Amino acid sequence: MSTTTIATAKEVFDLLHDDLCSIEREFGEDAISSVKAITEISEYLREGGGKRIRPSLLLLSARSQGYSGPGMVRLGAVVEMVHTATLVHDDIIDSADTRRGRPSANTTWGNAKCVLAGDWLYMQAFRVALEERNFKVLDLLINLTQQMVEGELLQMETLGRPVTEQEYNDLIYRKTACLFEVSMRLGSVLANQNGDAEAQMGEYGHSLGMAFQIVDDVLDLTATEEVLGKPVASDLREGKATLAVIHSLEHGTAQDREAILKVLSDRSFNRVRHDEILAILVRNGSLDHAMNVAFHYAERARAALSGLPDSDYKRALLWVPDFVLAREK
Ligand code: IPE
Ligand code: IPE
Ligand code: MG
Ligand code: MG
Repeated sequence: MSTTTIATAKEVFDLLHDDLCSIEREFGEDAISSVKAITEISEYLREGGGKRIRPSLLLLSARSQGYSGPGMVRLGAVVEMVHTATLVHDDIIDSADTRRGRPSANTTWGNAKCVLAGDWLYMQAFRVALEERNFKVLDLLINLTQQMVEGELLQMETLGRPVTEQEYNDLIYRKTACLFEVSMRLGSVLANQNGDAEAQMGEYGHSLGMAFQIVDDVLDLTATEEVLGKPVASDLREGKATLAVIHSLEHGTAQDREAILKVLSDRSFNRVRHDEILAILVRNGSLDHAMNVAFHYAERARAALSGLPDSDYKRALLWVPDFVLAREK
């Protein structure tokens, strides 16, 4: 490992500030359609904020590998648009009524319009990506979109029943880690790096994305809606078994298992309360277990940077895994 010290949040924010502003501008221009509803929905989502972690990763990947051209702003907007499209569709699928601390788009415009706005955003992302005139970029993005859609579909088939850790890992890779991986790989493609360097950056994104979704799933169980800005305890209410729950199913008592299975199959807390489930997860050390797995993924992400030359961008990349583990929303 290099002796590079890890950056602070403020340093990373300052480092990316101008680039992220350019990406906001690009996204704003890209999200304009001649059809009012599409522009309104896209704009509502864009101005709702969000952490912008995927474009930040793309910027850090590109810049840490020596790139500084206009492609990173364009592709940064592209990965955020793809992310936005998946959120619009995800909130319809999950019947979620809150996103980023505001009513979700589907509660305001209805499902039908939001499905179409999501479709439009996907295609707009591809249109903008096409401006790079690079098949590698399209290849990555097409594979990504199919993985994400397949992930949502496969997840639906698991609802209401326990899943294995292997199934869970596959689902969270497709739903989340794949986009983190692609954001990092796109940075390498822009910087014209060889396959090995791209694979290392991809490994960073993959591991970080796995940690990110595991933490998201823990927060769904432990956070409050005020802090998280989206519904909590929603996974169990949707019949979704996430890592901590899988751990208690495997390591808890017969009664623990029975209580969890009731909630999963009922898709509600009518027979077993949310706090009873939390008590089970705490007693079995399941939340700690999940955070521990996330911690190991975060370590793996950091280790994947060993071949990267030292720079402020690398220091920022070393910081991101800590941010992901400590995040509260
Ligand atoms: C939410 O992603 C969807 C998941 C993959 C869990 P983020 O937590 O990055 O959402 P925003 O963009 O910051 O709102
Ligand atoms: C994230 O899954 C899936 C996406 C890629 C949209 P979740 O269903 O856990 O995401 P949130 O919790 O609604 O943000
Ligand atoms: Mg959801
Ligand atoms: Mg979630």
